[in-house]
This record gives sequence, structure tokens and C-alpha cells, in this order.
Amino acid sequence: MNKLDSEIVAGQLAEAGYALVDDAADADVVLINTCSVRQHAEEKVWSLLGTLRHRKAKNPGLVLVVMGCMAQREGERIVRRMPHVDIVCGPMELARLPELIASRGLPRPREGTQDEVPVHPPAGQETRGRQDGTRGRNSHVLAVAEGDLGSFPRIVQRRPNRFQAFVSILRGCDNYCSYCIVPYVRGREASRPVAEIADEVRRLVADGVKEVTLLGQNVNSYGHALGDGTTLSTLLRQLDRIAGLERLRFVTSHPKDASDELFAAMAELPSVCPHLHLPAQAGSNRVLCDMNRRYTREHYLDRVARAREMVPGIELASDFIVGFPGETEEEFEETVDLVRRVEFQNCFIFKYSPRPGTRAAKMPDDVPWATKQARNRRLLAVQEAIMKRRNAALVGQTLEVLVEGTSKKDAGKLIGRSRANHIVAFPGDPALEGQTVRVEIVDSTPLTLFGKIL
Ligand code: 5AD
Ligand code: SF4
Repeated sequence: MNKLDSEIVAGQLAEAGYALVDDAADADVVLINTCSVRQHAEEKVWSLLGTLRHRKAKNPGLVLVVMGCMAQREGERIVRRMPHVDIVCGPMELARLPELIASRGLPRPREGTQDEVPVHPPAGQETRGRQDGTRGRNSHVLAVAEGDLGSFPRIVQRRPNRFQAFVSILRGCDNYCSYCIVPYVRGREASRPVAEIADEVRRLVADGVKEVTLLGQNVNSYGHALGDGTTLSTLLRQLDRIAGLERLRFVTSHPKDASDELFAAMAELPSVCPHLHLPAQAGSNRVLCDMNRRYTREHYLDRVARAREMVPGIELASDFIVGFPGETEEEFEETVDLVRRVEFQNCFIFKYSPRPGTRAAKMPDDVPWATKQARNRRLLAVQEAIMKRRNAALVGQTLEVLVEGTSKKDAGKLIGRSRANHIVAFPGDPALEGQTVRVEIVDSTPLTLFGKIL
């Protein structure tokens, strides 16, 4: 989601006449896109902002922007603690960033000083231009209102490569998992209309895109708020008809509403890739209940079994949080057991960190950091052994791979993904980027398959 937001903002600014620089040291405008999901991510931003203080002191014309979830969550506290920040812009107001940056005097500095920030928020929205009494021109701009759907259409003008694109289909989240900050920083759930999304995907495909990843905090909720019976499956069916769209993916799915209807659409629609990111978060029913996930481990295992039954070759990925308040050794072992049983393709494992304002933050954060760390390592080791074995079993098979580019680790090799999301590296001509090739797997590590083009 943040990658897409960065692309959108880069695209908007390019349209407004700005150019991207290769090195942030050469920039007139520096934008920091932030994440609030865990405390560690926020700490990194505070430290980066601290180091930028010197640059701003040397170059007062520099426009420093903090955007994204942390901007939303911390708001005014950011400029109080870091007065050299010019603009704080939440994820729901990104559409206004070019205007807000222009109000700082760029790209064409206006004459004289600018005491008032010329911000004109849409009626009823709570955008504030704020005066920092110490410096005339350098008043701060806070844009942390909850934008309406009007500011929602997101067209990406700057993609990282020509043939892959993210498309946001739903913003916000109404699930209120007890540990999660997202509903507080990304706002209430709202779905974009099918026609608008189809239009965006059609334009992307006409522009050379072969693989589209649909994004939402909880894509299974897509359509609920539209109130006309539209579901994610309806949307997938519409998009699958777009000629030239080779691969369609979607993230992230919530186990409580991963339905048979969705699995049937995945099985039936040729463009939809057999890969499901279905975060389990924990394997203990007590923990799941306190996380407000609204499913049990039994339900989760049932959904996995059903997905595997209905969608040939499906691969599953998951997120886990270790060290949630009150997590006992036995409860953690239930998570280990779930990981062993499911045999995920990949797992993202996080140490619990309390997020202010969430329900879990009111529970005692009573699992010591060292225990969280040990559980994280243990779960990772279990998962790695599974990945090692499962990847080794793919040696000798042939996979259809979309070439994404050259390998960063091994310059002579191309890198790409199979339809089920295996990462595959193989020797080949860089001109194959963006093409789909058949690759025979000859070797493997837990994370990567190695092959040769047939
Ligand atoms: N602490 C640790 N991990 C978290 N996640 C979300 N909130 C927290 C938190 N407070 C993890 C979840 C989610 C992923 C994006 O981040 O596993 O799926
Ligand atoms: Fe957060 Fe839960 Fe919503 Fe995911 S489904 S964004 S974890 S509240």
C-alpha cells in the first residue's frame, strides 16, 4: 500500500513539473513515506528526521514532507518535535500534496514572505495551516483530514516497471483487530466502484502492464460498502475479461471471509494466480479471540483445506505475530503447530508491539522482548525448514515465470516469479524482462528456485 502511495505521489509531482533525483542529497523536496504498523518503523522515521535537521539548517529552502500513516497518527506532534518539517500529510489527503508543496514556494518561489499558508480545504474537512511563530515563511501545513471518495481515485503515472502495477480497490479497514493501528490511520473502509477499477486496469494493460496486484487492507471485504451485492469475486470476473492481462493477484485476505465463492473464482479464472496471502496471526484460539480476529484455528485450517481442494496448485502465505499480550509457551506452540500443519510457501513473522489507541495496547505487554525474539527465531527456523523441503521438491519441474529484471545478488541472472509466487533465478538475456518464459528448476534454497530457460 505504501509503495503504491509513493508511486502515486511521484507520478503527481512529475505531472506538476518536478523531476525525480537519484540521490536525496540533490533534492529540493524530500518526502518521507511512513508506516505506523509497528513501533520500530516509527522509530526509524524519527531518527531520519533528526539527521535531516542539519540539511534543513544549511538549506532553508528545502521542503521536507512527512506523509503516510505516521503523519496521520502523530499529526501536530511531528512539527512540535521536528520543527524543520514543513508538511505533514496523512494517507487520505495525498491527492493534495502538489498543491501543498507549491504553497511552500516551489517550484516557482513567490516574491516576499508568505505568512499565511494558502490552503483551501474542501468544505467540512479539517485541514489546518499552522503558524510557527519563529519563522515567517516556515509555517507548517497539516493535512490529516479523512478525505472523501472524491480524493480516492488513484492513477499511477510512475510505475517501477512497465509490466507490473498495483491497483488500490479498497481503502481503510473496519475490522479492528485489537493490535492493529490501520483502522485509526487509514480510515473507514470504502470500496472503489468496479467500473472505475476496470477502467484503470484497462488503461494499465494498454500501457503494457501484464500483471496487476489488487490492494486493500482486507480485500475480501471488497464491495460490502457498495451495497449492491458486489464482491471480490464479481470484480475478479470483470477484470479477467480484459484482454492482455496475464496475471491478476490480490492482497490481503482475511480468513474469516475467505469464501468458497472466492476459491471458485480463483480456480475458474485463467488470469487469477493461485496464490493467497491469508494471515493467520496466531494458532491459539485464546490469542485469536483476544486479537479480535473473529475466527478459530479450526476455521483457519478448514479454509486452507478448502482452498487446496478447490484451487489446483495454490500456494499460501501468512503473517504471524509472536509475543501478543499473555501469550504462553503452550499458546505459542499452537502457532508452531499451525505453521507445521499448513506448510506455507512463505511467512512474515513479527514481534508484537503495542500501538497507542488500540485495544491490545490496554493489555499488559507482558511477554519479555527476549522471549519475543526467541519465539520469532524459532518460528522462522520451523518455516525455513519447510521452505527448504518444499522448494527442493520442485527441482525437475517446469514453471511459467514472468521475468521481473536482473538479480541484485547475482548480476548474470534474471529473476522472476511463477504464477504461484515462487521466486525463480536463471541465466538469460536482460531483454527478456517483462516476458513470460518456461523455466526448468535445477536447484533450490529455502527462498529461491534456480533454473534454466526451456
Ligand atoms: N505488532 C506487531 N505486528 C503487527 N502487525 C500489525 N500490527 C502489529 C503490531 N501491533 C503485523 C500483522 C499484519 C502485518 C502487516 O503486520 O501480522 O498482518
Ligand atoms: Fe489491521 Fe485487522 Fe484490518 Fe488487517 S484486517 S488491517 S490486521 S484491523
